Amino acid sequence: TWSGVQQGPPDAILGITEAFKADSFPEKINLGVGAYRDDKGKPYVLPSVRTAEEDVVSSKLDKEYAGITGVPSFTKAAAVLAYGADSPVIKEDRVAITQSISGTGALRIGGAFMQKFYPHAKSIYIPSPSWANHKAVFSDSGLEVKQYKYYNKDTIGLDFDGMVADLKSAPANSIVLLHACAHNPTGIDPTQEQWQQLSKVMKEKEHYPFFDMAYQGFASGDTDRDAYPIRLFIEEGHGMVLCQSFAKNMGLYGERVGAFSIVCDSAEEKKRVDSQIKILVRPLYSNPPVHGARIASKILNDASLNKQWLGEVKGMADRIIEMRALLKKNLEDLGSKHNWDHITNQIGMFAYTGLKPEQMDKLAKEHSVYATKDGRISVAGITSGNVKRLAESIYKVTG
Ligand code: LMR
Repeated sequence: TWSGVQQGPPDAILGITEAFKADSFPEKINLGVGAYRDDKGKPYVLPSVRTAEEDVVSSKLDKEYAGITGVPSFTKAAAVLAYGADSPVIKEDRVAITQSISGTGALRIGGAFMQKFYPHAKSIYIPSPSWANHKAVFSDSGLEVKQYKYYNKDTIGLDFDGMVADLKSAPANSIVLLHACAHNPTGIDPTQEQWQQLSKVMKEKEHYPFFDMAYQGFASGDTDRDAYPIRLFIEEGHGMVLCQSFAKNMGLYGERVGAFSIVCDSAEEKKRVDSQIKILVRPLYSNPPVHGARIASKILNDASLNKQWLGEVKGMADRIIEMRALLKKNLEDLGSKHNWDHITNQIGMFAYTGLKPEQMDKLAKEHSVYATKDGRISVAGITSGNVKRLAESIYKVTG
């Protein structure tokens, strides 16, 4: 029956973990998948998550199904975290929100909703480059995927003029995917002034913002600051859809905790939109898992745990910032002639090194340093113990 099924390629990001696991060299380094590690290189369960989880377990809740849109105390708090407690969209009760299978699930529901209901277009513009999975998620949702300029390889920075020009030349009412903060894979975000200009251009062209916020708190260590573009766009009167993930900022990777929301014009419109989200979700996976959402809900709703969590998010963001500086310093100490300023200028979990695919291949084959072909390295995988060997390896392959 399946003789016609061809061997597919390994996943661009998750396939790296497989290659890493197959390497027997004890000092191998995995900078592939964006998952936080402590300074010993170990996965990190946030103490606030441990406490919340113990609380959830000891309350001996039942295991009944959640509603189709998930655990209400979680989604309500997730919306407040993103839009802000004082946001008019929260106060006027016009955000339709559903729990999702983390950020990817949110993107998938969003893609399906736009495909079914957005009246003006069946295509979506994503930045070039973007997260390796965006294209597949949106095309599987039935949208045509187009790109706008984002990265300038000469400056290893933002091609802001190119981005604006592409947004201006896209047909009016286009759907535009924007990374709210900590752009993946480049680690390059627009400045606040640039966001203001982007908002104006989007407004003039009546483009529809589709925000992906997978890293709230991870860019600056401050969840409000990282939500700046969301809140700015709301203030400027944009409608939007928003995907949230709690994989990174709560370290709930395998629990798959996320949310998808749609900003509506009124509470009445929200009710109708909400009913259609349910109709989309039911045949996809019926309803979401409860355990991780209960943990996140506890952290978001309990004042003292919330404060503790924010401190822990900042701790993770700060360790990443420190590792950026250390990597750059080690490269400079080795006498590298290249300019590595971008490593410390970029933000979030990743550094986009500018290394070529052949150099990335060499890193893996000759130095057991694993990361994606596009030159992205997960800074969260760097530790004070491996940074020196990493810098030496990069130095050797870049000359
Ligand atoms: C990444 O980009 O490494 C993460 O978002 C993990 C993933 O699912 O790809």
